[in-house]
Amino acid sequence: MSTYETLLAKIENKTAKLGVVGLGYVGLPLIRAFANVGFSTIGYDVDQKKIDRLLKGESYIAHIPTEWIKEWLASRTFAPTTDMLRLNEADAILICVPTPLNDSRDPDVSYIESTGRYIAAVLRPGQLVVLESTTYPGTTRDVLLPILEKSGLRAGVDFFVAYSPEREDPGNPNYTASGIPKVVGGMDANSLELAHKLYSFAVVKTVPVSSCEVAEATKILENTYRAVNIALVNELKILFDKMGLDVWEVIDAAKTKPFGYQAFYPGPGLGGHCIPIDPFYLSWLARKVGLTTRFIEVAGEINTHMPHYVVEKIGDALNDLGKPIRGSKICILGMAYKRDVDDPRESPSFELYELLSTRGAVLSYSDPHIPVMPRMRHHEVPDLRSQELTPTFLASQDVLLIAMDHTAFDYAAIVKHGKLVVDTRNATKNVKEGREKIKKA
Ligand SMILES: NC(=O)c1ccc[n+]([C@@H]2O[C@H](COP(=O)([O-])OP(=O)(O)OC[C@H]3O[C@@H](n4cnc5c(N)ncnc54)[C@H](O)[C@@H]3O)[C@@H](O)[C@H]2O)c1
Repeated sequence: MSTYETLLAKIENKTAKLGVVGLGYVGLPLIRAFANVGFSTIGYDVDQKKIDRLLKGESYIAHIPTEWIKEWLASRTFAPTTDMLRLNEADAILICVPTPLNDSRDPDVSYIESTGRYIAAVLRPGQLVVLESTTYPGTTRDVLLPILEKSGLRAGVDFFVAYSPEREDPGNPNYTASGIPKVVGGMDANSLELAHKLYSFAVVKTVPVSSCEVAEATKILENTYRAVNIALVNELKILFDKMGLDVWEVIDAAKTKPFGYQAFYPGPGLGGHCIPIDPFYLSWLARKVGLTTRFIEVAGEINTHMPHYVVEKIGDALNDLGKPIRGSKICILGMAYKRDVDDPRESPSFELYELLSTRGAVLSYSDPHIPVMPRMRHHEVPDLRSQELTPTFLASQDVLLIAMDHTAFDYAAIVKHGKLVVDTRNATKNVKEGREKIKKA
């Protein structure tokens, strides 16, 4: 049998051993999707602390239950390790490592490169390597493949390569990794068939496309679409506010149209590891071929301005009360980038913190999902702990700034006890009493 036929048979009878590299927000749910249908996985990560916690049966991500890890360990279907030499034990290696931007906002594919080097060092005939990290079209072929081929093995003959973007929506109970269709592109027909077959076991639907580049571009299109549409409503929020119109009421009315409109919501700025970052992978690529992505640039400009707009609104609201920002006590409610999750990456709350701090505000924060202020790559943050929102604390603040609409916050109490509530999420929409204290921003 050829290497292709051998691997196909292992996938078909579910004896193929999986290797998931990068055990974060994407890697762990992916393991679950495969564990549920009977595949065993070796989980690789460079972070020894994470591996130690997994070995103890613990989860380090709030919406990923500890029970999952305990179950996998008990059934011996999961082996977490930092030992990258063990990558040769996996028949199919799925790469879920970070793809951030560097300081000059260019793609940082160094995590993909280092993973590629780990794999190349132990690559053996009959392995399938699938990149899942979000990245620009061409990364699998031009960055990952040459590193893997340094092993001396030939892609499409000895080993197989595919790209399949992750579409995880952390904290969304309606969509688990297995419930989301998965786009798959292969470096060649056999690679596509192997990846397609493998994912078909774990996800509701597999969508094969003609190349890795199409699959890579699909993911970037999805995230760019979100970034641009969020920028559109952010810009309209500012305009409608000047006209005395509430943008959230307008959106609620518009979304009653049963076709041709999808609701996006304004906020204090973009957050997360995807929407503020991925479109710029495409801009970078466009610059390389002498083109510009004007929509992406404009959206980026509008979205990065939003924290400044919010601070301006806070300044205006305090001014109406005869107070300056300097010396005012401001509590930021919500440091996470997304509702009900514990992920602070790229959250605009940190930008708000910095802008208000430079203006002399006396700052605190409250986030039930982030008990201790995390260290951030691009922001200076002091050692703070999340404040409990007692009536006394709420009443002691000059401004309660709602930056994230976590469901755990008691909005009626926030408005009742607070002096001034600046709401960037329309989180207080159902609060009946004390509405004169609410300023939308
Ligand atoms: N989080 C999401 O909702 C989401 C959704 C879709 C796509 N993505 C994409 O998936 C990728 C992973 O994102 P994430 O949110 O899971 O990141 P994460 O930071 O939660 O997890 C990545 C893990 O990779 C580990 N790691 C880094 N370098 C490594 C290496 N060389 N070898 C082994 N492990 C390494 C890190 O220690 C970390 O545990 C990114 O490209 C991201 O853009 C994320």
